[in-house]
Amino acid sequence: MATRYRIEGFPRGWFMVLFSDELAVGAMHKMKYFGRSLMAWRGEDGVARIMDAHCPHLGANIAAGGKVEGNTVVCPFHLWRFDTLGQCVEIPYCDGPISKKATLGSWPVIERNGMIFVWHHPEGEGPDFDVPSLPNDGSSEWTPWRHHVLRIKTHSKEIVENVVDLAHFMPVHGTHVETFVNEFDGHKAIQRTKGTAYPRGGGKDRFELDAIYYGPGYQISDMRGYLHSLLVNAHTMIDEHTLDLRFGVSLKPRGSSEHNDAFAEAYIKNLTTGFLEDVEIWENKVYRDTPLLARSDGPIMKLRRWYAQFYTQDGPRGASATGLQPGGPWQVGRLQSGAAPVDEEEE
Ligand code: FES
Ligand SMILES: [Fe+2]
Repeated sequence: MATRYRIEGFPRGWFMVLFSDELAVGAMHKMKYFGRSLMAWRGEDGVARIMDAHCPHLGANIAAGGKVEGNTVVCPFHLWRFDTLGQCVEIPYCDGPISKKATLGSWPVIERNGMIFVWHHPEGEGPDFDVPSLPNDGSSEWTPWRHHVLRIKTHSKEIVENVVDLAHFMPVHGTHVETFVNEFDGHKAIQRTKGTAYPRGGGKDRFELDAIYYGPGYQISDMRGYLHSLLVNAHTMIDEHTLDLRFGVSLKPRGSSEHNDAFAEAYIKNLTTGFLEDVEIWENKVYRDTPLLARSDGPIMKLRRWYAQFYTQDGPRGASATGLQPGGPWQVGRLQSGAAPVDEEEE
């Protein structure tokens, strides 16, 4: 029987929009995700905030020429000023009361592990799971993230399939996989692998890896090879055909710092090459709703069912179900299974 899942619009989850070092105090960043014009800004209190970018007045994009002043943002068009809640607090040429409607939509934000995440829910519900803390968060034993971004013409649903697609590792990445196990646990999709990587630059690295997706667009791999490393792979959709893929590596060094720097440099290059190998496939493939699978393919349909839970209309209501509110800390609700199969699964 055919198995299909409804994948329309944008999923629910925490999505990385920037590494922390990309948003300095006093900076404003213009961006577009989930089909919406957004801005990230950091006031002098050091807090990263994400708001709708278009001014409620006459619609200017505040991130296009606006300014952060103290803990407020100022629109470049007529200098309306907005506070940390998105409320307009000053219209410089008008003394009268300011309408409560003069507000910018404010999105839930978590800044953790050196990354900035925004919560997206198709109906504006609050978060129902959390972004876990990593061992490198605030630790001097690990190197800061070395990171990179690629803009790719594909859909998130293609990228997540890597986590179960056992048969692609050798042909696409030249990685020899010895053991490969997948688990699905609520909002987490897990891959546990042992194998040998043959970096394109030469050499080989025996490794053990636990790669965990926390929601549909953010994955952390804990990799024990020559060094202990954390890899982040985060993809955030701009529209239904385009996304930003951010990735980075943080290492627990051994030996001299030059040696580690060189290793980290080679590592991020190799990661970039690895993603570009996938990109070539992603940008040119079609998505088969009912793929013809071989017996030894990984659990692709299970992965699809897991992924579909983030699109369901009757999914969990978040702990903060009142809609979009300023950043955390968020209570974490329990994620119920909420897959939305159109037909029953065959697997
Ligand atoms: S459009 Fe922003 S102040 Fe007028
Ligand atoms: Fe891949």
